Amino acid sequence: MAEIDCLHQDKLIRIEGRTPLHGSVRVQGSKNAVLPILAACLLIQGKCVIRNCPIITDVSYMLRLLECAGCEIEQKGNVVTIDALGLREYRLPGKYVRKMRSSVILIGAMLGRVQEVGIEYPGGCVIGERPIDLHLKGLLALGADIAIEGNYIHAEAKKLKGADIVFPFSSVGATQNVILASVLAEGETRIQNAAREPEIDTLCTFLRMAGADIEGIGTSRLVIRGVKTLHPIEYDVVSDRIVAGTYLLATAASRGSICLKEAPIEHMNCILQILRAMGCDIVVRQEQQEIELRCGKKIRNLPLVETDIYPGFPTDLQSLLLVTAITAEGELMLKESIFSGRFKIVEELRRMGAYIREDGSQVMISGGTELTGRNVIARELRGGAALVTAGIVAEGMTTIVGTCYINRGYEDIVRDFKMLGALIDWMDR
Ligand code: UD1
Repeated sequence: MAEIDCLHQDKLIRIEGRTPLHGSVRVQGSKNAVLPILAACLLIQGKCVIRNCPIITDVSYMLRLLECAGCEIEQKGNVVTIDALGLREYRLPGKYVRKMRSSVILIGAMLGRVQEVGIEYPGGCVIGERPIDLHLKGLLALGADIAIEGNYIHAEAKKLKGADIVFPFSSVGATQNVILASVLAEGETRIQNAAREPEIDTLCTFLRMAGADIEGIGTSRLVIRGVKTLHPIEYDVVSDRIVAGTYLLATAASRGSICLKEAPIEHMNCILQILRAMGCDIVVRQEQQEIELRCGKKIRNLPLVETDIYPGFPTDLQSLLLVTAITAEGELMLKESIFSGRFKIVEELRRMGAYIREDGSQVMISGGTELTGRNVIARELRGGAALVTAGIVAEGMTTIVGTCYINRGYEDIVRDFKMLGALIDWMDR
């Protein structure tokens, strides 16, 4: 397989701030949609073609893991071909598993295909505690035997059997894991309180195109009737709603104007509503798949925004909104209700001049503050993109280290912001 590790792995990002973003940019394929789809390819004995696959490091790790399991992988630009006919290895190497928490969804896919998997426990995470108890409970209900020794999970199932699974709350990854394990299981699986994020719909649609029997797509009650085999398909990955939201929020923060091409409009209602309420002019052209945003000199903060499960405000855009709020008039109370410890960038933003009070799972942002460029450290993916946005609006020079986190989810954030006129570049360390 061609080397697709990120091109800018060890580089810094340098930004000369205070340039409003203007222009148009195309939105890349969705990270959170493509990862479970790549895992689902394990279930299919033959060659699947995945188009509009983003070239990001998380995809690279997932492809490596599939390759280690025995898949043949070809990658030409944004088109990836995966042939999972000759799977031969049930143990997945810790080297890649440790790099990416969502490798946990391979448990369901490997059980579904080869009835056995050995994988390291995905540890804690920089955005807070991320247990996998719901994943394991769902797989146990389907008949898997799961043994955990130290940091290692071994799961096995002679025969997976459909079951009734009621999640106590919504989990995207746990829902995906159960879907992956149940499409080839014997009998019917009913998932109640299934996550309703668009990335669940895209996984179900992919599997249905490949011959799976899934009902209730788009609802919190999924019914999956096991089928004997799935057949290879070609599939186009939807655009990334979080990348699209990043560029809209950054444009609002810099008081610019942007036309997003290939925008996943149907998944963006909440963020569009928030930006409109803050004072941005937004025109949506459904047929052209375009969103145009224009921002005047002033925008105002809403009193309260809380992250929520879909269709609520996505936790993945929380840190981006935080930066936009710093530039807006008035105060915003921003509550994080999905993950603990997801305000990692507050300290860095304070060093840039922001006035933010933090109180457990919420922050109060006083808007109208001028940011000043600093050397800052990205510690996680979306927080890293938020620091880039802060650098674009700040006075003077900002340098960002820890860009490997940003490259996990953005094909080339520098390329895209440059297209929009930002004075931004990659720099050798
Ligand atoms: C996915 C997304 C991530 C997004 C998140 C919430 C991918 C690759 N990642 O992560 O970008 O921020 O959804 O929309 O798609 N939980 C448990 N036990 C479990 C599983 C989850 O307690 O077994 C908790 C988590 O700690 C969290 C909440 O449930 O507090 C929601 O997490 P979940 O929906 O599972 O997020 P991920 O699938 O990890």
